[in-house]
Amino acid sequence: MKLEIEKVVSEIEQFVITNTSELEAFRIRFLGSKGLVKDLYGLLKSVPNEEKKEAGQQVNELRAKAEEKYALLKEQLESADQSRDGADLSRPGEPSTIGARHPLSLVRSEIIEIFNRIGYTVSEGPEIEDDWHNFSALNFPPEHPARDMQDTFFIEKGEQEMALRTHTSSVQVRVMENAEPPIRTISPGRVYRNEAISARAHCFFHQVEGLYIDKDVSFADLKQTLLYFAKEMFGEKAKIRMRPSYFPFTEPSAEVDVSCSICNAEGCNVCKHTGWLEILGCGMVDPNVLEACGIDSKIYSGFAFGMGIERITQLKYRVNDLRLYSENDIRFLKQFTSGI
Ligand code: PHE
Repeated sequence: MKLEIEKVVSEIEQFVITNTSELEAFRIRFLGSKGLVKDLYGLLKSVPNEEKKEAGQQVNELRAKAEEKYALLKEQLESADQSRDGADLSRPGEPSTIGARHPLSLVRSEIIEIFNRIGYTVSEGPEIEDDWHNFSALNFPPEHPARDMQDTFFIEKGEQEMALRTHTSSVQVRVMENAEPPIRTISPGRVYRNEAISARAHCFFHQVEGLYIDKDVSFADLKQTLLYFAKEMFGEKAKIRMRPSYFPFTEPSAEVDVSCSICNAEGCNVCKHTGWLEILGCGMVDPNVLEACGIDSKIYSGFAFGMGIERITQLKYRVNDLRLYSENDIRFLKQFTSGI
């Protein structure tokens, strides 16, 4: 009997638990109605009378020990629970919301990438420009009506009258003044025009200007470069057409349409049933502009083109209201997750 008791004592002492079901297993094994303590009480019957008293005491002590250990284990388990602050560790984590890039940034990066592939660098210039870079060097004579084509915001800066640049062509002047040909660069940036804000016009928007100056640059090079761009941007099936136009800084000048990728040039609301969409202006850089920027027009020729990023984005993502780009409505912005 003594031996039996000792065995149970040491088992109780060594028992460890880590969770509530193990605690319950402890209770059932030792203190349950069919547990070891109960068994030992049963065995007492067969103990000789003179030893009964002592054995009975030992079993009583054993039961007290088991109960004590049970209470201790239970307490340990509960305090461990509290130290986790009652947090439910099996709950899914807080979702982390990922920002999206602005559609204009996505398209600007794509345009830059397309021209990087054929050797164009990126150059930038200031948004507050002087008359020379925005107009005069670009062959807009003073009082020339072409200045009215671009509703300019004028601002005073000290003595000098400055303007918010009306196009990124101002950057081509800066590049030509500072670099030797061959020049192959694009200038993405924000431009400003004094227009009433509506779905189709805004007081600021974004352009990418392109400039290529070298010996023997021809109109055919311009056309092929723009066809390459249209195919990369709108798909292999894209076609372009050129319509004669006028810009003071290019001669000859053209406006370029791309075949409507929305209806496969069959005619839809977006292309006003013509199958064509206007995307940019371009032309051969006027010799007057080359000379104004210190480049010998007898040796060098070049082409320039300029496109609106909003316009390209509108065609790519079917955005039909210019105001959406600057309203910062999260429901609009979060749709553009590609390119992250
Ligand atoms: N700067 C012109 C505009 O803003 C676009 C253009 C750029 C046209 C270069 C021809 C050459 O409308």
